[in-house]
Amino acid sequence: MDKVVSIRWNVPPDEVAEVRRLSLYPFRPAGPEINDEMTANSGTIFAGAFLENKPIGCIAVLPEPKYDSQWRIRWFGVLTEERGQGIGTKLVEAVQQEAVNNQVSLWAEVRIKAIPVYERLGFESLGDFFDLPEIGVHRVMRWSSNGLRS
Ligand SMILES: CC(C)(COP(=O)(O)OP(=O)(O)OC[C@H]1O[C@@H](n2cnc3c(N)ncnc32)[C@H](O)[C@@H]1OP(=O)(O)O)[C@@H](O)C(=O)NCCC(=O)NCCS
Repeated sequence: MDKVVSIRWNVPPDEVAEVRRLSLYPFRPAGPEINDEMTANSGTIFAGAFLENKPIGCIAVLPEPKYDSQWRIRWFGVLTEERGQGIGTKLVEAVQQEAVNNQVSLWAEVRIKAIPVYERLGFESLGDFFDLPEIGVHRVMRWSSNGLRS
């Protein structure tokens, strides 16, 4: 039988803190310090992918206007063993649906590995590649349901 994965919107940060660390920052130790940035912007909304009640993926949006887009996407990750099944795609699609509901556009600093996922969902690359220490090469991408203004 296929696994049933549900995407839940607006989950408490605590529920996805460990899946965020494991999927995005496995080289950093667990502890309150790594979680502090999750609540630094009080407008941050988290979504989680859950297998039964086990968190296996996460994503967040926060009101941080830049690149002509109102919401920033952060902390998009899926546990290593659950990748390549479309779960990441479902998480980004959930954010796009919320963006449509709220009539906002989206931007993100996207790791190389995630660029194809975002591209398939209609995101546009902006500017050059850049390096973030410890994490690697990124590119800014953005998306609007109404088309992008350049
Ligand atoms: C980036 C990331 C979140 C993607 O999550 P994911 O669940 O693997 O995403 P998807 O399954 O939707 O897509 C990943 C690949 O699987 C493929 N895929 C999707 N559904 C599939 C399925 N049912 N069967 C086989 N392959 C599938 C997709 O085509 C995609 O291929 P591509 O990357 O070669 O283009 C995940 O790799 C991750 O956590 N990486 C480490 C952290 C990271 O880089 N985060 C991004 C920060 S910007």
